[in-house]
Formats: sequence, C-alpha cells, structure tokens
Amino acid sequence: MNIRKINHDEDPPWGLLELADPSRMIVESYVRNGHVYVGEEDGEIIGVYVMKETEKVVMEIMNIAVDESFQGKGLGKRLISHAIQETSKQGYARLEIGTGNSSIHQLKLYQQCGFRIVGIDFDYFVRNYDDPIYENGLLCRDMIRLSYIFES
Ligand SMILES: CC(C)(COP(=O)(O)OP(=O)(O)OC[C@H]1O[C@@H](n2cnc3c(N)ncnc32)[C@H](O)[C@@H]1OP(=O)(O)O)[C@@H](O)C(=O)NCCC(=O)NCCS
Repeated sequence: MNIRKINHDEDPPWGLLELADPSRMIVESYVRNGHVYVGEEDGEIIGVYVMKETEKVVMEIMNIAVDESFQGKGLGKRLISHAIQETSKQGYARLEIGTGNSSIHQLKLYQQCGFRIVGIDFDYFVRNYDDPIYENGLLCRDMIRLSYIFES
C-alpha cells in the first residue's frame, strides 16, 4: 500500500471516512481544516486517515479507516505508523486519538501502536451524535482519549 497526502483539489474518500464516523457534518468540518492521507493499492484507495492540529504542538488523528475487504491485514497499523512518522518529522510533541468506549478492537490497535490512555470525555457521543451508536453489545457514549508522546 502506497500512502500519500491528497491534493487540495482532490475529493477525499467520503465512503471510507463515514465507516469511522457516521456524522457527515463532523467529518466535513475536520476534513476542511485537516490533512487527508490515503493508502492506495493498484490505483485504488483502500485506506484513509485525517490529522488535524488541535494545539500548537499537538496533532490529532480525527479519522482512520480501511476498506472492509482489506481489514485485518495490518493496513490500519501501517496507516497509524505513517501518521506517527509524519507527526514526529514535523516536530509535534504529541499525537492524539479518540475512540468510543465500545470500540474494543480499535482500543487494542491504538495501544499496540504505542498510544496510552490519557483521559475520558464523558458522554461525548451522546452530546455530539443524534442517533445512539451500538458496537460489540455496548452503547457508545464516552470518548476514550489516547496519546502517543514523542521523546524530546
Ligand atoms: C480500525 C481499522 C482502521 C483497523 O484497520 P485494520 O487494517 O483492520 O487493522 P489491522 O489489520 O492493522 O489490525 C491491527 C490490530 O487491530 C485489531 N483489530 C482492528 N480492528 C479489528 C476488528 N474489526 N476485529 C478484530 N480485530 C481488529 C486486530 O486484533 C489487530 O491486532 P493483531 O495484529 O494483534 O491481530 C479498521 O478496522 C476500520 O476501518 N474500521 C472501521 C472504521 C473505524 O472503526 N475506524 C476507527 C474509528 S475510532
């Protein structure tokens, strides 16, 4: 998989982005102010991630998704490694990511990639999404905040 940043005049892969985030309005807001990277195989986009600067020295992965037929092959890990490298090269102190309390596999993946749990945004999903989200038999209500801290 070849990973590259998309050009300003290029459409982001909305379908993939919506796999990770059901709110088109929220997705559009961070795509507008963020950096979109896509993973391609034979010219086809099969993965995406979006990063946005949230503080002067902090970048956040706002969205990450791999096409369903390519999941479970290590591509998610490769996209996250790429995001870590890019952020490190650009001199940021931290890379953050948030996920739902019900996103068990994502919590495992992010910790495998070196992220540590640093906080909980209680009822984030209840406040920001119109419809309830259920995953793995759990109501998704709280956002678990994780950080990858670069050594200085
Ligand atoms: C989350 C996502 C990007 C991971 O991408 P991926 O290519 O499937 O992940 P990988 O193959 O690199 O998996 C890495 C680890 O995560 C775990 N994992 C991730 N998603 C999983 C799933 N749906 N089911 C089981 N395990 C999963 C695996 O256990 C794997 O660990 P292992 O190497 O010890 O087996 C992908 O599943 C996806 O697009 N999901 C839908 C969108 C989404 O939820 N985005 C994140 C929102 S917070």
